[in-house]
Amino acid sequence: MLVEIFSDYEALSDRAYEIVATLIRRKPNCVLGFATGSTPLGLYQRLVEGYRRGELDFSKVITFNLDEYVGLPPGHPQSYHQFMWEHLFQHVNINPSNVHIPNGMADDIEAHCAWYEAQIQRVGGIDLQILGIGPNGHLAFNEPGSSLGSRTRIKTLSRATRRANARFFGSEEAVPRHAITMGIGTIMEARRLLLLASGRAKARAVRAMLEGPISAMVPATIVQLHRYAHVLLDKEAASELEYNHHDGISEPFDIH
Ligand code: PGA
Repeated sequence: MLVEIFSDYEALSDRAYEIVATLIRRKPNCVLGFATGSTPLGLYQRLVEGYRRGELDFSKVITFNLDEYVGLPPGHPQSYHQFMWEHLFQHVNINPSNVHIPNGMADDIEAHCAWYEAQIQRVGGIDLQILGIGPNGHLAFNEPGSSLGSRTRIKTLSRATRRANARFFGSEEAVPRHAITMGIGTIMEARRLLLLASGRAKARAVRAMLEGPISAMVPATIVQLHRYAHVLLDKEAASELEYNHHDGISEPFDIH
């Protein structure tokens, strides 16, 4: 794994931009896996700015999002469809037919999840999957206890996640109880992972992810098994690590 620690969120977001922008320039038809949440917002803002400066062309980029709430229509202000269009897609020249986000209103959720997996296969798999981590160690909406081999499916959200996301819905009660999420097995098939974590609230989960034993109770620990996992942290998120990545131990060649 390559772990990089930055002084603050802005520096972390600059680095994330450099990685994603380099891929888009080298492979204009790349397949990007996107994540929602507060953490990738700095990256998305930079991607929009890069597009406006004429540095990036999204016209052939294909995207797959990690998850979506069940029961929220795409136009709902808190849906992840809305989030992605508001923060990124509507500002760049992406082809809407290249955008894939699970449909939380699907009549047959199981069939929809199988279709979603098939779409990822059809385009040859995900080149780079952007990820966050929950304070409880979840990866996408793969909550503690998720099968480490899981595929895209419906999951019940944990209390901790509904509490963490209550800020967007006004109350915990208003947060949907279920979500469709790419599985851990699906995420692990991406050719590269780019996981971002910022802030003190993530420090314990980050430590468990990087230094703890691999466990379904901390789904993010699975990144230890990926052959190309790149983790960007700010100082606060890295504050509980024992292994000192500042000692020059983690170098670019450590990514494999
Ligand atoms: P956040 O969410 O970026 O809003 O902290 C990350 C997550 O829960 O996976």
